[in-house]
Amino acid sequence: MPVTVLIGAQWGDEGKGRVADWLAADAQIMARYGGGDNAGHTITVGDEIYKMHLIPAGALREGVINILGHGMVINPQKLLEEFAMLEGRGHPITPDNMLISERAHIITPSHRAIDIAKEAARGDAKIGTTGRGIGPAYTDKVQRSGLQIYHMLDEEAFGDRVEEHIARWNEQLEKIYRSSPLDPKTVASEYTEYARKLKPFITNITLVIQTALEEGERIVCEGAQGTLLDLDLGNYPFVTSSSAGVAGALSGLGFGPQHVDRVVGATKAFSTRVGAGPMPTELHDDYGDRLRGTGENPWDEYGTTTGRARRTGWLDGVALRYAVQVNGFTELVLTKLDILSGFDELKIAVAYEISGKRTEYFPAKLEDLEAATPVYESFTGWDADIMGVTEWDALPAAARDYILKVGEIVGVTVKQATTGPARRDVINL
Ligand code: GDP
Ligand code: IMO
Ligand code: MG
Repeated sequence: MPVTVLIGAQWGDEGKGRVADWLAADAQIMARYGGGDNAGHTITVGDEIYKMHLIPAGALREGVINILGHGMVINPQKLLEEFAMLEGRGHPITPDNMLISERAHIITPSHRAIDIAKEAARGDAKIGTTGRGIGPAYTDKVQRSGLQIYHMLDEEAFGDRVEEHIARWNEQLEKIYRSSPLDPKTVASEYTEYARKLKPFITNITLVIQTALEEGERIVCEGAQGTLLDLDLGNYPFVTSSSAGVAGALSGLGFGPQHVDRVVGATKAFSTRVGAGPMPTELHDDYGDRLRGTGENPWDEYGTTTGRARRTGWLDGVALRYAVQVNGFTELVLTKLDILSGFDELKIAVAYEISGKRTEYFPAKLEDLEAATPVYESFTGWDADIMGVTEWDALPAAARDYILKVGEIVGVTVKQATTGPARRDVINL
């Protein structure tokens, strides 16, 4: 059974990029199944830091085929920029190693403009989106008026479609949001040019995936965002518009569940969130600031896509247990353990108190989650700097206890803990 699905177990930015990078070492195919360039996956290779928004981690490994799946919404301009970034750094992108699903949807400047205008109109109730047009692109898809990647194959007809699309959204932009309209002809000619460049990469990925499965090749599905941002599973409406969880991999790439033998959940050793929405274990004190870092280090908690400071807090065991349950994780990777060095005390939420009642379940009702007070278990911290430690035995006893405790609280084994952003900074348990 040859499919591994890698999923963010929190609110995104769990270190999926670095985990995907090591899973890519044994993969024939690496595939993104959902989201778009709202994602920002960091991969550190020696002195090089790669920030990938659309392209899976396999692009850094020779011989791996990278797929952008049906479930994605793709901004062609950003994709071409990412091609150029990788090529410029010695990683050729060719139709042999990069395939785009015909069925994926296209993000346009109208989607971006509407995303930004909608957020402005929401005022205090804003979601804090990345402004990349994700919500409006999925809206177009769900209301069955979206532009699909295969439309690019007929450039002339595509130009007409883009013009119609821009004109349609201009009505909303002007009448509802009082924003400036976009010029349909200019966008159409820009998008026709993107179509010409992307054409060689557009293909029927079902054929490729089914053949790979028949031949027993290893496919790794690189999740984007995180379970708590999943449209169905997260804290609606403070979510993204795609299926970030395990189900998204099946529909966003197109294969049956019997092929999946590993579901890897990535979680930080603490919590972070960018954008608005409830976060029960958020800290507004020195501890929170220390978890975030000042921005001096490349791994400090500032958004990979938008540069926004991430909200930080203790590990939320209730939310993580929920992510384990709804995705069926077979194992967990605990990232950024090194960041916890030097804290006198560490805490993990094991339950919430909501209106005076204790619950161990992650609530669906937004008001409940907003009212949830974490019930913490406390642990002794450790002093030693553990960055770069690769041996279990070399970890302070308190760090070993912390890792084991996470597994116990959420009911799934932590198989790896990471102690730095570099490829080698991993402890196999
Ligand atoms: P993703 O979206 O899940 O791929 O995560 P991001 O790339 O947005 O954010 C994770 C950040 O943490 C990146 O800067 C990584 O290089 C960094 N990182 C990942 N694992 C570790 C680790 O074990 N220790 C430290 N210090 N940084 C890490
Ligand atoms: P990776 O793959 C963290 C968040 C946004 C916002 C909400 C909706 O790097 O983990 P959207 O632009 O998707 O409509 O914004 O979702 N968000 C992410 N947060 N990491 C991500 O991706 C995210 N992708 C979206 O901040 O709160
Ligand atoms: Mg990220």
